[in-house]
Amino acid sequence: MKNAVSVSPDGVEYPLPIEEDYRREYSRVQSLVTTARHDGREIVVVMGVGFVGAVMAAIIADSVDKAGKSKKFVVGMQRPSVRSFWKIPLLNMGISPIKAEDPEVAPLIKRCVQEKKTLIASYTYDVLSLADVVVVDVQCDYTKNELGNVKNGDVDMAALEEAFEIIASRVNPETLILIETTVAPGTTEQVAFPIMKKVFAKRGIPSDPLLAHSYERVMPGKNYVSSIRDFWRVCSGVNEQAKNKVVKFLNEVINTDKYPLTVLDRPIESETAKIVENSYRATILAFMDEWSLFAERNGVDIVKVIKAVKMRPTHSNLMFPGPGIGGYCLPKDGGLGIWAYKHIHGFEDDIFRITPKAIDINDTRPLHTAQLVRDALRNMNIPIAGAEILILGASYREDVGDTRYSGSEVLVRKLAEMGAEIRVHDPYVDQWWEFKNQDVYPNGSKRVFFRNQNKLNDLQVQKDLGKALTGIDTLVFAVRHKDYLNLSPDEIVRSVGKPIAVIDCFGILDDEKIKRYLELGCEVKGMGRGHIRRIKELLKKKSPMHNLDD
Ligand SMILES: NC(=O)c1ccc[n+]([C@@H]2O[C@H](COP(=O)([O-])OP(=O)(O)OC[C@H]3O[C@@H](n4cnc5c(N)ncnc54)[C@H](O)[C@@H]3O)[C@@H](O)[C@H]2O)c1
Repeated sequence: MKNAVSVSPDGVEYPLPIEEDYRREYSRVQSLVTTARHDGREIVVVMGVGFVGAVMAAIIADSVDKAGKSKKFVVGMQRPSVRSFWKIPLLNMGISPIKAEDPEVAPLIKRCVQEKKTLIASYTYDVLSLADVVVVDVQCDYTKNELGNVKNGDVDMAALEEAFEIIASRVNPETLILIETTVAPGTTEQVAFPIMKKVFAKRGIPSDPLLAHSYERVMPGKNYVSSIRDFWRVCSGVNEQAKNKVVKFLNEVINTDKYPLTVLDRPIESETAKIVENSYRATILAFMDEWSLFAERNGVDIVKVIKAVKMRPTHSNLMFPGPGIGGYCLPKDGGLGIWAYKHIHGFEDDIFRITPKAIDINDTRPLHTAQLVRDALRNMNIPIAGAEILILGASYREDVGDTRYSGSEVLVRKLAEMGAEIRVHDPYVDQWWEFKNQDVYPNGSKRVFFRNQNKLNDLQVQKDLGKALTGIDTLVFAVRHKDYLNLSPDEIVRSVGKPIAVIDCFGILDDEKIKRYLELGCEVKGMGRGHIRRIKELLKKKSPMHNLDD
């Protein structure tokens, strides 16, 4: 029988290891570790080499002491699942398993693997027994059972709990276990600690596991590495020894001279800080949703309003939410907090009003974008069913290729439900996995919230804008990628071959461009851009023959 294989995004098949491979793999790592120890290096196992773990592993492996010497030998440990095993052979070749816009990622990983020889990857959990420090970077997902109701959801604790058991069954008692995963507050002390303590007791180890928490603030984009290494960190430990160890470790591997650590009393405080941080951001974004609608309905351009308000230094973080809020963290992190209150801490009352509301508003904002598309087409007497719609941008924010929970996904699903024919263009995204794998998407796909989704299995992200534009009825500016900021209305309409509906979700079009699209016979709508009506009326006055429905 053929081995199961794990397929990398570029299509290469890697057979999963079989039983007899494990012993050989452990010996390989053990001998490299012996040499590293001999060279005075501490052994760090990073568990989970995904978006965060792969780069964190390389940052640790790249770190040097005051004399410029490498003091860490890092094993990126990844379970050999069909979905993720391919990351191990790739890393061992010195190739980054994540596609990053930051030019520092690829050379950093290559340097550590091939030149410094301070980074390897492995699939056997037994490497945990060799570690002085274990950094946990596995995911902890939150599954929503309803669209627009974050309270109806579940934390996927099983993978994390299993990881804690595996770690405790292998590490030595002095090993620092640093949880970086964003977890439901209380997890380190009330989930991980008791699980590990029990396993330690079974192994006859009387001491407490040395558990610590310090969360990642990593930002996808061109400063990816720097957002991990050169940024402020918060941390804490379950006892003084764990706390001292985590402070020492972080001081050795990230730039704490310039970005000092904040050490909190207990891990639940570090865990809560992460959730509060992201709930705060989700909330200020959601807050603008109602003002964006207000603007649309009352002749106000929200983009200019935001600019005016931001002049006050106290209000400089006001943001325009675009067509919904995505990314891996903001849509789920508040949910982890709400879930923890009930399921870890045992409260039954409902204290959370703002955080869930904010997430629900952000999750459903793309539905309004779909309405704008429908209305613009109606004004042109084109039914949405069968209309050809091109979405510019699949990712969750500008100039990155990360599509996780992007507003565009919900927009595409809603438009498909209404019968539209969808095309997508994105210079940064090669495969839109949320659609390509929608039938098997881990932790549920949003397809279940909509009808008429089968045809989206074949949705291809187009790279040639000229081709993508040909013959469309509607153009949606969904993401502020730099490629989209300076597109000329004349060229767009020429490429399409006729006037179209143009929907601006992100304040991409200035008034000149809006005016030009209108002059070319297009219909224009924008999220939060109520002043478009005024521009139309001015044009109507100048040229009364113009068809300028509202
Ligand atoms: N991606 C971001 O932008 C970001 C930002 C800040 C914080 N975080 C947090 O960092 C954590 C990790 O996120 P990510 O984006 O790297 O996730 P990810 O899904 O890319 O990576 C997780 C990796 O862990 C592996 N894994 C799962 N269980 C394992 C086990 N038992 N043993 C070994 N490996 C295992 C998975 O196969 C996967 O490769 C999450 O808690 C996330 O919320 C992510």
